[in-house]
Amino acid sequence: MRIFFGFLGIFVEFVASRYMENDRCTAILVGAKASVTGAPMTTHSNDCGNCDIRLIKVPQMKHSPGELRNITLIKQEYPRYVGSARGPSYTQSSLDRGYFNWTNSPTIGAIPQVNETFAYFEGVYGIMNEHQLSMGESTCGAKIWTKPISQGGHALFDITELGRIALERTKTAREAILLMGSLAETYGYYGASWDDDDAKEEAGEALTITDTKEAWMFHILPDDTGKSAVWVAQRVPDNHITAIANQFVIHHVDLDDTDNFLGSKNMFEIAKRNGFWDGTTVFDFTVAFALEHHDPEQYGYTRRVWRVFQLANPNITLSPFTDDYSTKYPFSIESGLLKPEDLMRIQRDHYEGTLFDLTQGPSAGPYGDPDRFRVGNNAAGGQFERSIGIYRATYTFVTVPHPTNNRQAFFWFGPYAPHATAYVPVYTQISDVPKGLSHGTLRKFDPSYNFWAGAVVGNYAGRFYKFTHPFVVKAQTAVESLAIAAQTNVQQEAEALYASKGYDAMINYLTNTTTYWSNTARDALQTLFTTLVTQCHDGYIMSDFENEEMTVKVMGYPKWWLESVGYYYASSADSTIKDDFQLSGSLIFFFIVVILISSALGFIIGRRSTPQRGYAHLQ
Ligand SMILES: *[C@@H]1O[C@H](CO)[C@@H](O)[C@H](O)[C@H]1NC(C)=O
Ligand SMILES: *[C@@H]1O[C@H](CO)[C@@H](O)[C@H](O)[C@H]1NC(C)=O
Ligand SMILES: *[C@@H]1O[C@H](CO)[C@@H](O)[C@H](O)[C@H]1NC(C)=O
Ligand SMILES: *[C@@H]1O[C@H](CO)[C@@H](O)[C@H](O)[C@H]1NC(C)=O
Ligand SMILES: *[C@@H]1O[C@H](CO)[C@@H](O)[C@H](O)[C@H]1NC(C)=O
Repeated sequence: MRIFFGFLGIFVEFVASRYMENDRCTAILVGAKASVTGAPMTTHSNDCGNCDIRLIKVPQMKHSPGELRNITLIKQEYPRYVGSARGPSYTQSSLDRGYFNWTNSPTIGAIPQVNETFAYFEGVYGIMNEHQLSMGESTCGAKIWTKPISQGGHALFDITELGRIALERTKTAREAILLMGSLAETYGYYGASWDDDDAKEEAGEALTITDTKEAWMFHILPDDTGKSAVWVAQRVPDNHITAIANQFVIHHVDLDDTDNFLGSKNMFEIAKRNGFWDGTTVFDFTVAFALEHHDPEQYGYTRRVWRVFQLANPNITLSPFTDDYSTKYPFSIESGLLKPEDLMRIQRDHYEGTLFDLTQGPSAGPYGDPDRFRVGNNAAGGQFERSIGIYRATYTFVTVPHPTNNRQAFFWFGPYAPHATAYVPVYTQISDVPKGLSHGTLRKFDPSYNFWAGAVVGNYAGRFYKFTHPFVVKAQTAVESLAIAAQTNVQQEAEALYASKGYDAMINYLTNTTTYWSNTARDALQTLFTTLVTQCHDGYIMSDFENEEMTVKVMGYPKWWLESVGYYYASSADSTIKDDFQLSGSLIFFFIVVILISSALGFIIGRRSTPQRGYAHLQ
């Protein structure tokens, strides 16, 4: 029977479906007075198993009068865009060769271009522009979904194009929000998915948007005509932080309070006519428009917000249990001064030390592996804990704007999962993104790229996590603490060069410095991998290589694990297996009889009717 079930299992696994993930991305938003830098910060963990891994700098551009700004269909896999409109990094000649003959990305519409567009960095979504406008992202389920204009719908914009246009054209969070909101209302907004049952899961989006002074949370979804959009934005108080984890977090909305709220006026009417709001109770944006996730699935969303709050301010006493829309959680909480490295630490979190600690318990295996991979087709109705730090991150970052000087802005960029990467300072004033960050694809393992150098560490370290993790932390800390300590000097040197030799000299220096740290981080990960393999392999921990006799220790299995797999009950387990065999023996005999009878019958029937019968699908 087991064998037959085994076969069925394999058949089930082979049913192909378009690969998609609903719980993508966590973003944290820090107000100016909760940030040690004096300017707001944002993070983004792009949690996507199949996204384009490249970090690209789109250059500043001049445009002639009458020119159009082409809009493309959302694409997140490699190559996310092919063409010349976003600088040299995206042209056909810059693509990795030998896989597929990619052609230029199709244009699905256009809007008037502006005479000048700003330089900005982007990964799967926009990150930061030369005026320090920055954004993190998190896809959120919504009750209304629609199709793009090129796929039978009416909507022209998705969140990736809106974010890019904001980075191309605006300098402040408010300008960015108003521009994205008005473009979406005018031309229509669509979510990241429209051709499957899960369209609602990806119908909404949230961006965390910062400039040098203000931090704003932005939510958007399609309207019910498919031709416009519903959106809202709320300012985070300067001494507060907030977070978003695939579920909207803006509840109460007051559009008259323009210091703290911006939004589309249609939200109330649309909520009312679709029965999402009765028109009399207090309006709650999340309750009205967010897709409801029920226990236990909802905790894959709401609990990450709880965890960010708890890590940022341990004095806050919020329950890790909440209702589906987390209506009991505040929009933001007060926090002490956070450093960029605090945000790196939060992004690496697996609920360590809490009730939900992913490094503990049977699902972590004997060595405390926090990775919980996709369950596959058996997923419905259950839930592993979903932590902020996750193996399938394409990259994570922390932005570090300067309160007054655009030249000093940078972001810490960590390709691959945060717990297995080393963050690299990427200055906004560079001419080229280092090759280790700006090239590479998921189609070929190549550890000369930081992503793959991290991926090999993460995948190997997970095998003996309890033993490998200290090595990983040590290597990360070594690189990152040096890079953090170097920042003051780098900034001074850059400013001195700017003053004495001009802008180009500063750019060369910062490009060189970014490349140095990118290479240093990558080399550290490569070395770490060789260290891990040498010192932790095959259930041994090996050390003292300089001694005449090196030390070999056995990792051993924990007693609870040995008990759980029947190690101590081998003889009684044996008898169950023996019973099973006897059962299987009689079953096999039964099947043989059935098969003989059916073939006899089949032979008789087959002579009168048509073709061969049998069990071909099982052979
Ligand atoms: C815009 O798209 C059109 C039609 O696909 C194309 O001919 C044109 O070159 C594109 N313009 C830019 C600036 O990419
Ligand atoms: C690749 O595509 C281009 C544009 O469609 C075409 O001109 C070229 O012949 C193709 N090359 C190969 C090797 O298929
Ligand atoms: C470009 O646009 C800006 C703002 O819209 C305007 O101030 C400037 O004069 C324009 N420059 C040219 C060359 O048209
Ligand atoms: C937590 O409370 C302690 C004691 O009142 C205080 O010193 C500390 O600053 C608080 N921490 C934060 C992050 O607010
Ligand atoms: C940085 O500049 C120094 C001195 O000009 C040069 O020797 C070095 O190779 C450069 N490093 C990188 C990574 O470009």
